[in-house]
Amino acid sequence: MWGGRFASGPGAIMQEINASIDFDRRLYRQDIAASKAHAAMLAKQGIISRDDARAIAHGLDTILSEMDTGKFRFKRALEDIHMNVEARLAELIGPAAGRLHTARSRNDQVATDFKLWVRDAIDGIDAALAAYQHALAEKALAHAATVMPGFTHLQTAQPVTFGHHLLAYVEMAARDRGRFADARKRLNENPLGSAALAGTSFRLDRAMTTRALGFDRPAANSLDAVSDRDFVMETLAAAAITALHLSRFAEEIVMWCSPLIGFVTLSDKFTTGSSIMPQKRNPDAAELVRAKTGRIVGALTALLVVMKGLPLAYQKDMQEDKESAMDALSALMLGLAAMAGMVADMKPDAARMKAAAGAGYATATDLADWLVQSLKVPFREAHHMTGRIVAAAEGAGVPLEKLPLAQMQAIEPRITKAVFNVLPVERSVASRTTAGGTAPANVRREAAKWLKRLAKK
Ligand code: ARG
Repeated sequence: MWGGRFASGPGAIMQEINASIDFDRRLYRQDIAASKAHAAMLAKQGIISRDDARAIAHGLDTILSEMDTGKFRFKRALEDIHMNVEARLAELIGPAAGRLHTARSRNDQVATDFKLWVRDAIDGIDAALAAYQHALAEKALAHAATVMPGFTHLQTAQPVTFGHHLLAYVEMAARDRGRFADARKRLNENPLGSAALAGTSFRLDRAMTTRALGFDRPAANSLDAVSDRDFVMETLAAAAITALHLSRFAEEIVMWCSPLIGFVTLSDKFTTGSSIMPQKRNPDAAELVRAKTGRIVGALTALLVVMKGLPLAYQKDMQEDKESAMDALSALMLGLAAMAGMVADMKPDAARMKAAAGAGYATATDLADWLVQSLKVPFREAHHMTGRIVAAAEGAGVPLEKLPLAQMQAIEPRITKAVFNVLPVERSVASRTTAGGTAPANVRREAAKWLKRLAKK
């Protein structure tokens, strides 16, 4: 492609370090779409002839179908996707192929291609996040009244409902979708027409390629447009946070599946056995989702380091933006599918969850609140009295609701038998009706709201 100034080809190591075709071949659809838009615009502006534009479009269509069907022979010697396409175009249509690169550089070409690719990836991730939310909301609705222990410091804190716990992840996923949507909005400016770095002397119609490729507007500064990789970094940042959310939930699934806790079981669909221990059922899918966070956070870190300190405009360093980003976004897609699948698959053990929710004096706060509401005791004092009652129950080796009234009255004489109404775990969760609280009625309403919202799109 630059034979004019070069007498011999690159050395083997140069070719090895320089070639990006092994990963940027994944841009072929976007590369061909952008080339078709560019050629049509060049023809409309009278920069190339209608006949040449027609031949170029036809040739590009042929290449697209060769690539779609796996017939295309990618050549490492041709370095990247752009030159593989252009060289094949020349084989197919002859010298007219040489007109395609008029008023264009691989610098604005690759920025355009990758933006289109990342935009598609964002759309795919958004749909996968919505499906994950849907699976969570359905499970939450089914388990709006299933009581489980809520933890802080991984210590039994207060009873909550399983549905409420699942809806927490729906909220996280909603913020994740918001971050991807923001990144998408900001990335949607067209680099094409920036050429190598300075723009071009040809009279381009940038609005036309902008429309054809679904961008909102042409990028306003050619230097910025060819050297901007914010769109990859932002998308990876959103991906890293999403992956981290998935990883937190995956960790809970792993714990819940442990026989020590035993809150849920996963079917054969999402577990594996051990080659030596016949009794085992390992939650590998959850563990791998947890682990994939490493490569996703890693891809963000890698690109931040690549871009740090790069002067304007395009530098070859930027070719390193694609491989790990593509890998990371694919890993996230897979992780989301696995999580949605596991949510639908998991069977909670309601009896075990309820027993655990009642253990550890989890309704002590309800007792303290009753003292405040019924006896008008200041909360700090109620907290202290409750502590003494918990100590008495602990001493007697019984849960709070089994402690005889007389023993409670020995600590606070004004306590009546009405206190026993607030001590069962079901009463506890049912009383948490403040907006955002864990009461089954709230959970049903929230889950239904999400299911309706998710069905609309
Ligand atoms: N393969 C290159 C990349 O991904 C394409 C742009 C190359 N531009 C250049 N002037 N060498 O960044």
